[in-house]
Amino acid sequence: MRADLERILIPRERIAARVRELAQAIARTYAGSEEDGITLVTILSGSLIFLADLIRELPIRMKLGLVTVSSYRGATTQAGEARLRDALNVDVTGRHVLLIDDILDTGGTLRLVRDELARHAPKSVRTCVLLRKPSKAPVDVQAEFVGFDIEDQFVVGYGLDYNDHYRNLPDIGILRRELYA
Ligand code: XMP
Repeated sequence: MRADLERILIPRERIAARVRELAQAIARTYAGSEEDGITLVTILSGSLIFLADLIRELPIRMKLGLVTVSSYRGATTQAGEARLRDALNVDVTGRHVLLIDDILDTGGTLRLVRDELARHAPKSVRTCVLLRKPSKAPVDVQAEFVGFDIEDQFVVGYGLDYNDHYRNLPDIGILRRELYA
């Protein structure tokens, strides 16, 4: 798998350090909500590893919800139209919601889930992404917590996939150009 990378962009140690910082920033933001806690809504599958690491650094009361979005990506790196694959599996009405995603690219995925959440009248919605491609992220989809801003290159590892491969790479790397369409 390592041989399929052009280079490692963010090594595991930097990811771990940044995840701890993000958790601290999130804990400070929700310091007043200890009693009811917050609800994390995570977009599968790319955010799985990020979620697992983040919540173990987050000493606050929380409920977890999961949502699956398909964007008909398959064996291509071009985003298709985002669609919710299932209903929200957690009640967010009146709750502080933190939406978790792996990467904010064109914003289609987060816009879709944010609009779905809004229909259930949460108390607040904030967004946390591990990665953001600032050159593409649209102004109407903002994230309050961002791990790393990266160039517009296709990255894999630490949960991120190409055609469902590479999720188990511990580092985030740039996939060799000749390997994708
Ligand atoms: P949008 O364009 O909706 O994209 O913001 C968000 C979803 O698309 C996937 N994505 C990527 N996956 N490397 C990946 O492995 C990338 O560089 C990349 N860019 C977008 C990802 O699933 C994300 O949730």
